[in-house]
Amino acid sequence: MNKEVILTGLRSNDEFHLGNYLGAILPMVKLQQKHAGEYQLNMFIPDLHSFTTPIDHGTLYDQTHQNLKVFVAAGLDIDQPDTFIYRQSYIPAHSELTWILDCFTYLGELNRMTQFKDKAAKAGNDAEQITSDIERVKEMMLAGGTANVGLFNYPVLMAADILLYGAKYVPVGEDQRQHLEFTRDLAERFNKRFGEMFVLPATIKEQAKFVGTQEPVRIRSLRNPDRKMSKSIDDPAGTIMLSDKPEEAAKKIMTATTDNQAKVGSPDFESRPGIANLLQILKLLSPGSEANVSEMNYEDFKQLVAKNVSAFLSNLHAKLKAVDDRELMQKLEADELAMRQVAEATLLKVQKAVGLRPL
Ligand code: TYM
Repeated sequence: MNKEVILTGLRSNDEFHLGNYLGAILPMVKLQQKHAGEYQLNMFIPDLHSFTTPIDHGTLYDQTHQNLKVFVAAGLDIDQPDTFIYRQSYIPAHSELTWILDCFTYLGELNRMTQFKDKAAKAGNDAEQITSDIERVKEMMLAGGTANVGLFNYPVLMAADILLYGAKYVPVGEDQRQHLEFTRDLAERFNKRFGEMFVLPATIKEQAKFVGTQEPVRIRSLRNPDRKMSKSIDDPAGTIMLSDKPEEAAKKIMTATTDNQAKVGSPDFESRPGIANLLQILKLLSPGSEANVSEMNYEDFKQLVAKNVSAFLSNLHAKLKAVDDRELMQKLEADELAMRQVAEATLLKVQKAVGLRPL
């Protein structure tokens, strides 16, 4: 029997930040360590997703490679035979399945997601907690552009990314929850109509349980902890980029927005989001080191978080320097060939089902 598939993708329109790391990269690395040999693990760069909002196209190709190196530096063992890394655009079946799925996606379904963005923009932070799309809309507004069809449509491309490989588990941050639910709905609809075509991804609850968290992770901005930490250019002090110098990152932690309580206590995201966010970062980065923080004052607590974040970055930067580029490229190209076959086999099944190929 084929192994169950764990899959995730991270866009490469920019460098990764701490939210990407804690929300998606670290869970994948931990799952790989925990279940070595039991599952197939796909970790890819959805490069076609990179320009749903305006970007510098001149840097995209190199940024993709840089981000693949981060996977390795962060601890992804690419020598494991069941682990595959690839670039989405090197496997054309992603684009073709997207078109087919498009024709089984209701306009209203995607509209709800985009309408939601509008609502979120008006309603402010609460609504924004549920989706990251608003960040992209803001980026677009900043860039002076208008929404392109790709932005509207990208949940379908994401569904294709998942369904092509029969992924059951998709570790992602909280902002991708809506897209995972949409993927399940679409797969269910397709299966009802054409027979068992796609593996249904696990429910959000099952996903979180599998990853070992109660909920998907949502790291907040250090400056504005009601919002998520994001790549957005308008919040550099609130975002720790993985390329930040350790001392620069420490400074961001020390100046993070908190509240006027005296001690750390047991903060919750509702009433004390800033401190709760720092505690969450500490717990995820260095499990156990949060044991005795409740009696700490904010200054000492921030020092502790800053120390852990800067140690993490120093270590990551050293590992990044040591990544063997040639080995990485060889693995990438071999995996792209292998995954192309898997993706094409799924696509052929679908093509037959919808009448594009003979049965
Ligand atoms: P992207 O590239 O915006 O983000 C990559 C991953 O990082 C997570 N993330 C966060 N997690 C916690 N806290 C944060 N502040 C934070 N910011 C980002 C995201 O939830 C995501 O897991 N459409 C996807 C990429 C994608 C994909 C896929 C993911 C394309 N195809 C198939 C999974 C499976 C996206 O734009 O993520």
